[in-house]
Amino acid sequence: MGIGATAGVAAAGGFALSANASGKSAAKSSDALVFDKDGYTELTTTITDADGHDKEVVYHFWKAITYVTNPVDEKYQSLKVSVPVKIDGKAVDATDAPIVFANSVGGYMPSSVADATGVGGGMTGAPTGGASGSATPSASASSSSGTGEVQSGGNAMLNGQGEMVNLGKLGLAAGYVVVEPGARGRTLTDSDGNYYGTAPAAIVDLKAAVRYVRANKGVIPGDTDRIVSTGTSAGGALSSLLGASGDSRVYDSYLKELGAAEASDAIFATGAWCPITDLEHADGAYEWNWGTNVTQSTGKAVDQAVSKELRSQFAEYQASLRLRGLNGFGPLTARNYDEYMVKQYLEPSATKYLTDLSDSDRASYLAANTFITWSGGRATFSWADFLTHVGARKKTTPAFDAFDLSTGENNEFGKDKTQARHFTAYSLKNDTTGATGKRLESDIPEKLNLMNPMYHLKEHNPSRSKHWWIRLGTKDSDTSLTISANLAAAVADLGDDVNHLYYWDEGHGSNIDPADFITWIAKVTGYKKRATK
Ligand code: DHB
Repeated sequence: MGIGATAGVAAAGGFALSANASGKSAAKSSDALVFDKDGYTELTTTITDADGHDKEVVYHFWKAITYVTNPVDEKYQSLKVSVPVKIDGKAVDATDAPIVFANSVGGYMPSSVADATGVGGGMTGAPTGGASGSATPSASASSSSGTGEVQSGGNAMLNGQGEMVNLGKLGLAAGYVVVEPGARGRTLTDSDGNYYGTAPAAIVDLKAAVRYVRANKGVIPGDTDRIVSTGTSAGGALSSLLGASGDSRVYDSYLKELGAAEASDAIFATGAWCPITDLEHADGAYEWNWGTNVTQSTGKAVDQAVSKELRSQFAEYQASLRLRGLNGFGPLTARNYDEYMVKQYLEPSATKYLTDLSDSDRASYLAANTFITWSGGRATFSWADFLTHVGARKKTTPAFDAFDLSTGENNEFGKDKTQARHFTAYSLKNDTTGATGKRLESDIPEKLNLMNPMYHLKEHNPSRSKHWWIRLGTKDSDTSLTISANLAAAVADLGDDVNHLYYWDEGHGSNIDPADFITWIAKVTGYKKRATK
């Protein structure tokens, strides 16, 4: 793949935009992609910062700006910008601050900032899963953890105390510039019934939004070379993909059609919470991880024969990745991944959790969880006991490409008037809906690559983000725990800086260390907040 060809950023207002899809010259409307630096309103809000302190933040707010010249649906293809000017009465200059690029995608659903009146609060508001967008039993059932469980991704993250975490707001309170993009999602249909938000619409839109920001270097406040992307679940997947696929040419035709700015779409750093990614390999990974947990949280037992077949697919896939585990673990395979998970992630996660408890809380936790050996300030346990501890799995089998085409992911790979399609040969073979054909539809392999960060990492994309923050709850059975670990191993293998932790006993959508993330942004970008006089 061609890399770096678009790295040169056109000066604002000077874009060489081609004719758009409707045949009109985009020259006139290219002005639409110039950031109107005076077009803000000044707002004041109180934000409880990442350390739990209330801060009064005065900021400049730009409401919904369309980020392409030839939008399919402006309601989704627009972004909002928030720039702090005063924090707790002290003027701040965010001219060179990192830009937190916070998507609010959840469930691969549409996300819009069109009606937003200030920073944060972006929600897709829709339940995850379900081809029709309605909650399926598998999507609506909560895991057994009872902690950190949320229905939609994006900004809908919860901290350990069950409070909402909004990284846009936290970024603003830390003195960073915050850009919050909307993006098309899988359920959108036009008046003819054509699906226009399915793959790869969401990633194309996010890239177009990044290009808009970078094309406005020097006009939009913030350091456009220090964009830090964030997202959760499907939004975490898209954030990872944005990081992995920077400046990849495989999106060019899509971006051109939208009239995206001629600028780099590479981002500096990636934050991803519980990314639901590597979709075409996730069914096998799910069964490798949760397959022995035969009962779903609905109380139904899953098909063990299917589970076993999928597990063997994981072994083959994992071997093909040729990844090495972090800290000199060596080749990661289906045979040693349990040991890797326990040693690299799960025991350290439990150890931290237990260390942070009071003596009496620790004693009660250990009394209730005798599978953990606590010795010398360290927790040890087996993978099998860990799986029993997590208990019922969230999803049925296959978890992602359902035989009956009922998952959100089936819808994500819908096309034209077809709401949901198969995207793995195995599920096509076992289809129960009468879907025709022995082969996957011809556009599917390319769409899968367009949606998968692992594809870009395998290609060693040199314009990928080089800093990675990845988080996942240990009780999150929305996907396999190996999905994040493989992502981390892949970028570490390429020499990137990875900060990957699992949150002990947390479920889907948790973010229990937002303050650390805010600090991490300053560290990796080298930014020191400057106060104006
Ligand atoms: C999300 C959750 C899922 O279980 C899934 O399959 C896709 C997306 C989400 O919360 O975004």
